[in-house]
Amino acid sequence: MPLFLIGYMGSGKSTLGRGVATALGWRFIDTDKEIERREGLSVSEIFALKGEEAFRRMEHDLIASISPDERAVVSTGGGTPCHFDNMELMNAAGVTVYLKIPAGALARRLLDSRTRRPLIEGKSPEELLRYIEEHLAAREAYYNRAAHVVEGVGIRPEHIIEALREGNRPELLTDPPRNN
Ligand code: S3P
Repeated sequence: MPLFLIGYMGSGKSTLGRGVATALGWRFIDTDKEIERREGLSVSEIFALKGEEAFRRMEHDLIASISPDERAVVSTGGGTPCHFDNMELMNAAGVTVYLKIPAGALARRLLDSRTRRPLIEGKSPEELLRYIEEHLAAREAYYNRAAHVVEGVGIRPEHIIEALREGNRPELLTDPPRNN
C-alpha cells in the first residue's frame, strides 16, 4: 500500500520520500512535480495563471487516483491534507506519516530553499516565521490525523521505515536538542 508523507513546506517530504522509496525499492511520486509535469507549468505559474483553487483540484485528483495496491512513496504538498477529503482518502488508501518539524527550523530551511513557493514569496525572515507559526497551528488539525508522526530536525529515511515497522513511537525519533 502507498506511503504518504505529509507536513509543512520545508519539512523535507520530497528528499525523505525519495530516500524511503529507494530504500524500499518502491516508486516515488512527488505531487507538486507530477502536477508540474502534467500541466507543463511550475506550481508558481499554476497559482498565477489558473489560481490556487485549480491547483487544489489537481492535487485532489492526483491523490484520489492513487490506488491502495500501489507500491509507492508519495510526497505531498504542504496544503494537500488540508483540502477536500484528502486526509481521509490518504488514510483509506495507505499509510500516512506526518513529518513534524519546529517552526523555527522550517523558517530557516525555507529561507535557504531555492524552490519558489507562492504562499510565502516575498516575506522577510520575521514575517515568514510569524506566518509559519500561525499557519502551522491551523494546519496541524489536519496533519495530526496521520497514522504516524515522526518528529525532529534530523529525520532520515530509516527513521520513517523504523516508525512504520515498530508503530508510532515518535519519542525514539526525536533528535535532541530540539531546535525551535
Ligand atoms: C503548498 C506547498 C507546496 C506546493 C504549493 C502550496 C502549501 O509544496 O504544493 O506551493 O499550501 O503548503 P511543498 O510543501 O512541497 O513546498
